[in-house]
Amino acid sequence: MSASTIAIVGAGQAGATAAAELRRQGYTGRVVLIGDEPHAPYERPPLSKDVLLQPDTARCAIHADDFYQQQSIELRLGVPVVGLDPHARTLALQDGTTIVFDKLLLATGARVRRLPMLDALGDGIHTLRTLDDARRLHAVLKPGRRVLLVGAGVIGLELASSAVDLGAEATVIEQAPRAMMRCSPPMLSEHLCDVHRARGVSLHLGVPIVSAAREGDEIVLTLQDGTRCAGDAVIYGIGVEPETTLARMAGLDIDNGIVVDAQCRTSHPDIYAAGDAACRRAPNGRAVREETWENANRQAVTAARAMLALDPESEPESADAPWFWTDQCGLNIQFAGDMAAPEWLARGSLAAPPCVLFGLDGDGAVVGAITVNQGRDMRSAKALIGKRARIAREVLVDATRNLRDLAREAA
Ligand code: FAD
Ligand code: APR
Repeated sequence: MSASTIAIVGAGQAGATAAAELRRQGYTGRVVLIGDEPHAPYERPPLSKDVLLQPDTARCAIHADDFYQQQSIELRLGVPVVGLDPHARTLALQDGTTIVFDKLLLATGARVRRLPMLDALGDGIHTLRTLDDARRLHAVLKPGRRVLLVGAGVIGLELASSAVDLGAEATVIEQAPRAMMRCSPPMLSEHLCDVHRARGVSLHLGVPIVSAAREGDEIVLTLQDGTRCAGDAVIYGIGVEPETTLARMAGLDIDNGIVVDAQCRTSHPDIYAAGDAACRRAPNGRAVREETWENANRQAVTAARAMLALDPESEPESADAPWFWTDQCGLNIQFAGDMAAPEWLARGSLAAPPCVLFGLDGDGAVVGAITVNQGRDMRSAKALIGKRARIAREVLVDATRNLRDLAREAA
């Protein structure tokens, strides 16, 4: 494939990782990486953390500045791709350029889910997805400013943590009955709310916003129970939606994202998708889409190798349980496996980390794990999940037992 062109739409985590993997695997053809943002590919996890807290020193570039030139990767930044013709194999860029490709990777990520009731207020309403958003927020999160955070998901709680660190007053408003409900068991949700409250955050759970208004310099959000929350600015994080515009244009299969197989192939044989935009069919037929840094990297590598027709059998181990993390209130929390497990046990105390939580399924097998300031146990926890280990509950929670030994010995 040395005379061919591989085009990648989306110069984010998955796009930049796939481009690097193509070169790592010895591909010598043309690689074009196109992104609509003006910045060279960067990591998003620091945006709600270090980029807000240490804007002058935080680093988030995925590769060194000269990497793309050194690797002969054509980086086209600040140009949205506005058209995809799968039959002619062409991409139309907004600047009028056309790119003819042999293989295409859609790494278009996700967009913030919009809340029109808030957007209608204009100035003072923010969301966080991009580096430019984070830079704007740095000017919002100032000592003494009252910030209303809508959504107590990962973004809302990380922002509450950073806001307090920066001296702002944070109020969190969540319509679901508990925080981080999409990706955390009740035990951890409740504990995190206690931690945030102890830092002065005001939390309103299970109460939808019924109206939003500007009153003088203030923004006032009225909740269903009549509570009025007033602030100087609003930042909302109510989830994301996969960016599937081009895939729709090309007539690809779409469910909760661009449907791909285990090799990240879409319903078109030469078009692949990876990262937040992609979803794969689980054995039960459900469309599973992960919104994590690790999944973007993993799928990018899988897609790159598949585009080069490398034997999937020779791929590095990829059967690990899904993994992601959050950093908030001085806690590094890592999650692996099934967060919807019906039973959770604590090894150690959440109130006094380090601590590990284990999620068990109905048969008592370990299917999920969460480390709190104990990331070094994650490898063993993943091994237990991989083996669906069934270990006596009192042994699993006994912090004097070496977890690595338990993982090794588990059947
Ligand atoms: P993205 O990184 O979103 O990249 C997609 C790119 O494609 C974007 O630049 C987009 O503008 C561009 N694009 C889309 N359409 C077009 C088009 N038509 N033409 C040109 N360009 C286009 N995950 C974790 O596991 N742990 C964390 O702690 C964590 N923290 C996070 C904090 C924040 C603030 C955010 C926003 C995300 C966080 N994530 C975290 C999630 C993680 O960053 C994402 O899962 C990951 O970035 C997904 O990578 P991606 O390449 O699929 O999409
Ligand atoms: N009012 C209040 N809360 C709402 C509303 C609403 N109208 N709509 C949704 N929510 C809540 C949800 O109940 C949920 O708790 O917003 C929260 C969204 O949480 P996440 O799904 O975790 O999304 P978010 O925090 O926006 O994170 C978006 O960034 O960090 C990454 O991987 C993460 O992909 C995720 C993305």
